[in-house]
Amino acid sequence: MTLSSPAPPPKHANEHGFAVTNGQLSLGDIPLTRLAEQIGQTPFYAYDRQVLTQRVQTLRQAMPAELKIHYAMKANPMPAVVQHMASLVDGFDLASAGEMKVALDTPMPAEHISFAGPGKRPTELSQAIAAGVTINIESQFELETIAKQCERLGLNAKVAVRINPAFELKASGMKMGGGAKQFGIDEEQVPVVLQRIKALGLQFQGFHIYSGSQNLKAESIIDAQQKSLQLAINLSDHCPSAIRKLNIGGGFGIPYFPGDTPLAIEQVGDALGKEMTIARSALPEAEVIIELGRYLVGEAGIYVTRVIDKKVSRGQIFLVVDGGLHHHLAASGNFGQVIRKNYPVGIGNKMGHQDLETVNIVGPLCTPLDILADKMALPKAEIGDLVVIFQSGAYGYTASPNKFLSQPDTVEILT
Ligand SMILES: Cc1ncc(COP(=O)(O)O)c(C=O)c1O
Repeated sequence: MTLSSPAPPPKHANEHGFAVTNGQLSLGDIPLTRLAEQIGQTPFYAYDRQVLTQRVQTLRQAMPAELKIHYAMKANPMPAVVQHMASLVDGFDLASAGEMKVALDTPMPAEHISFAGPGKRPTELSQAIAAGVTINIESQFELETIAKQCERLGLNAKVAVRINPAFELKASGMKMGGGAKQFGIDEEQVPVVLQRIKALGLQFQGFHIYSGSQNLKAESIIDAQQKSLQLAINLSDHCPSAIRKLNIGGGFGIPYFPGDTPLAIEQVGDALGKEMTIARSALPEAEVIIELGRYLVGEAGIYVTRVIDKKVSRGQIFLVVDGGLHHHLAASGNFGQVIRKNYPVGIGNKMGHQDLETVNIVGPLCTPLDILADKMALPKAEIGDLVVIFQSGAYGYTASPNKFLSQPDTVEILT
């Protein structure tokens, strides 16, 4: 009997888009050890504006020319990043009045900004009305609150209806549509809501259909986009005026874990081009929009933390670093992962070194959850070396419990 050799373990896809010179990773042409000196501390997050620019350009080439690309600021609301994104994208998606402040500090016109999310407070709604930002209505109560705020302010509101569709985005990391959801208004209830918008005389803009996030399957995204366009066409007879903005969501994922493969955006772009041609005859005034967060910024950022201890426990090597889950919850596996998997990790000042050893990388918190790498083969690292977590440009700093255990804060920079 012959035994077939075991399949090689799955690898991380495109580990990073940053240059490496003499074993040093560099961002914005600055070698990492020098960047750490410039910043004056570890840990830190660093985002690379060249990588951001390149990313949006590559995406635009793959998408239909008339498609509008909006940036979902929740992925990374760092003001410098948002400023840079303002020069690259066609609009912003907001999730709070806090994000609205950052957005309005950029040159992005308010008419290209929309505000989504359940539970918008009355003050957030009045701020959005005053700013002229489009509000994606998520409930009938919210609609009535908007109308009251308009009356109080003597202003009219730009509104779109966020629809909770009957379909879902298949094979998605997170689903925000389909079934019973806290997001949007069930598609069955939308005709009644449209009538009410008409009766209230609000400025109807169109629809927002966001069905899910972190999807790497082109076929699933194509399917959801087709269904979203069709749903808008089906509902168009009920609209108080022509649909001007048709936001069909996003969901474009990035590869985080071994075995993940990058999304085939050309495939998505080709299919969307055909669907938009069909939709144009039914909805001639509609601007079709996609809204993306992590796809635009996720690969452009790293989290850097320094080795401050190295120890061995029952045969396993532990690198203890000065950062951890309090700054980067997602890399620790505690941000929605069912089974913890390693993010792509490197030793930033020893890139490509061939002398490998298998290590666990852990943070300084007194919990076994504070783990950044579990049994990874990495270049042999010593105290003082810089551990880099790739794919960290989205849902890093602001999606982490920074105050946990009163550890020192991290910083963010844009190179
Ligand atoms: C309404 C809405 N838009 C955009 C996004 C951004 O998702 P991603 O960063 O995965 O592109 C989300 C994610 O939660 C969302 O809920």
